[in-house]
Amino acid sequence: MQSFIQGLPKVELHLHIEGSLEPELMFELAKRNQVDLPYQSIEEVSAAYQFHNLQSFLDIYYAGAAVLIHEQDFYDLTWAYLLCCQRDCVMHTEIFFDPQTHTERGIAFDTVITGITRALADGQQKLGISSELIMCFLRHLDQASAFETLSQAQPHLDSLVAVGLDSSELGHPPQKFIEVFAKAREQGLLTVAHAGEEGPAQNISDSLDLLKISRVDHGVRCIDDPKLVERLAKEQIALTVCPLSNTKLKVFEQMEQHNLLELLRQGLCITLNSDDPAYFGGYMTDNFEAVASALSPTQQELAQFTRHAIDASFCSAERKAQMR
Ligand code: ADE
Ligand code: ZN
Repeated sequence: MQSFIQGLPKVELHLHIEGSLEPELMFELAKRNQVDLPYQSIEEVSAAYQFHNLQSFLDIYYAGAAVLIHEQDFYDLTWAYLLCCQRDCVMHTEIFFDPQTHTERGIAFDTVITGITRALADGQQKLGISSELIMCFLRHLDQASAFETLSQAQPHLDSLVAVGLDSSELGHPPQKFIEVFAKAREQGLLTVAHAGEEGPAQNISDSLDLLKISRVDHGVRCIDDPKLVERLAKEQIALTVCPLSNTKLKVFEQMEQHNLLELLRQGLCITLNSDDPAYFGGYMTDNFEAVASALSPTQQELAQFTRHAIDASFCSAERKAQMR
């Protein structure tokens, strides 16, 4: 099974580029940029990665991003992730970035996006890995800040395929961002949102109805609303499920309790993704392996995760045809 999973072609649809910052690169960039870290060693960083919920992770994740200052830092971060994609047979990836995490501490929007897109272009050219870029709004900030971010993105709209919504779900429902999502759609961008990760199933329905999202990021709490499960199956709305993330952040205590296979067998378009691999203990292959050992899916079911991800991808019809 291990070699089947390793060699299985994969497509990633839920990856925060800031969440791929490995402790080694964090230390290297801290040194290069003379940024103080609250850790003395790589071992200390790894020991700090014990989370009891989403917020306990986000606090550490935003602090880690402080080492990213120059365009080259964003390039190096993205390139390191693409090398992991190559190792894991990832053919195509759709990457989230959180501009506000950087602009709030004085880094220019252009610095962030230029570093990331330059690495993605090299990923296409040198590794044959295709990609799309999704700009996320931080939902713990207000809609005015999201509007400002959308205006900073105007010169770069050609580099973006969609906008998304991430950060603390509890207390920050999709209703907060209706107008900025409408504006993004007017500008030709697709929309996605984290929903039903820690928050209620209602956040999934509201994101579909109010933000007109094309996919649901996480979405595992849909199980609490049988009518919603029926809708997700009927309309084949993809869920970008992140198994190792969900167990690290205690959405499920143990992988054996994860509902992803049950949802797949009810006909939902389930995909497997890594979310923040440097923080949650693994990239795409690790997520597939964790699911395989805890839930014992068939090889056909494992291959189905990739087929679903191709179907749900925002890439061109030509690229989809190549990957099938
Ligand atoms: N930002 C990075 N990872 C996230 C997650 N799993 N949920 C919400 N916001 C995030
Ligand atoms: Zn996420």
